[in-house]
Amino acid sequence: MERIRIRGTHDLRLQGEVRISGSKNAVLPAIAAGLLTNEKLNLTNIPLVKDVFTILTLMKQLGAEYDIEGNSLAVQVRDIASDEAAYELVRAMRASILVLGPLLARYGKAVVALPGGCAIGSRPIDLHINGLQKLGATISLEHGYIQATADKLSGASIEFEKKTVGGTENLLMAASLAAGETVLKNCALEPEITNLCELLVKMGARIDGIGEETVRVIGVRELGGATHEIIPDRIEAGTFLVAGALTRGDILLNHINPAHLQTIIEKLRYSGAIIEPLRGSALRVVGSREIKPQDITTSPYPGFPTDMQAQFMVLMTQALGTSIITETIFDRRFSHVNELLRLGANIEVQGDKATVKGRTPLSGAEVIATDLRASASLILAGLIANGETVINEIEHLDRGYERIEEKLQGIGASIERIRN
Ligand code: EPZ
Repeated sequence: MERIRIRGTHDLRLQGEVRISGSKNAVLPAIAAGLLTNEKLNLTNIPLVKDVFTILTLMKQLGAEYDIEGNSLAVQVRDIASDEAAYELVRAMRASILVLGPLLARYGKAVVALPGGCAIGSRPIDLHINGLQKLGATISLEHGYIQATADKLSGASIEFEKKTVGGTENLLMAASLAAGETVLKNCALEPEITNLCELLVKMGARIDGIGEETVRVIGVRELGGATHEIIPDRIEAGTFLVAGALTRGDILLNHINPAHLQTIIEKLRYSGAIIEPLRGSALRVVGSREIKPQDITTSPYPGFPTDMQAQFMVLMTQALGTSIITETIFDRRFSHVNELLRLGANIEVQGDKATVKGRTPLSGAEVIATDLRASASLILAGLIANGETVINEIEHLDRGYERIEEKLQGIGASIERIRN
């Protein structure tokens, strides 16, 4: 079992340059889109993270061939070998649900295990199913599996009851091959969805309103191959911005898209960090001696991302005062709190709110990672905790961060991966 060991100190100053990887949450739907055509997709700037290999394992079971060279992926589904996404893969990664829409659209049948809940809460997919039924799919839930069939999907008007990233992505892909026009209302606005739409258009899809809440799709008979660059990972970038603010450091992040980080930048500037945009795709963060407390409420893009909540909480443990963090997206996304308490943080959870009292000096301890972003928050806390911190169960970390310990070593952190 692998663990991460950090030798932290209150007066750590992270300094240097980090290249941010491609976005996990953009590459996963882009790979699933490979099911929509029998031609090849060439995706560049892909992150080599565990979830990419998990979805490629699923795609291979469905009939895909793929080849990875460096951070470029070629994937092609000449013909379907199976229409089933088995439970052990869906359990490993709920984003496997993203094959449902493409399988239905291209092959008219899909059997996808219901993704269970996970450490951050119950993860229903009712909005995906309701939308696909409106496009004409017949869907039943049997023995923990979604049994879906559709002779031919046909366009419809669909309004999402609430913003759903995966639901928007599944319906966009299904509508691309449905007969006629589909109007999707109350779409999620995350940049990863825009990146997917741009790929679908390159493949021949007809989509209007990209990046807006109402998107119109005119279905086409078939889609072709494309070459497409995956956008930088805004959550990895945000994680390193917090690392700079937390350690009064001076870090240059390159290969990012600052436009995707506006709310994160705004909150970090308010906390006292200096963040300056440099040529096009780079940002410099300089941490301040005093960190100001502030209340944060997570919300769908362009609001403060739920995927940054755990990381920001660590920063607030070092702020001079009290901060209230409200998590509105997931119903159990505070599992990192108990582990932060072990490191000496002063945090109290009441329902969807966590009250963080700072400044509390942290001290190293052995902790357990429970989910991807909790893992990142424990690393951030370990960096500034006096003494040694060991983080167990780091398989969660590797799902969404590419070589994070090497990137942190490169800017002065004493962090290593230990195998035993
Ligand atoms: C995506 O998950 C991301 N994952 C998550 O990132 C991210 O936290 C989330 O969007 C919100 O931004 C990927 O893109 C692979 P949702 P997704 O559908 O699509 C409820 C990470 O750390 N909902 O936008 O599953 C749902 O329970 C991961 O990188 C329904 O009720 O999120 C949640 O409360 C974690 N019914 C809210 O909507 C549905 O049918 C938002 O979920 C679907 C969702």
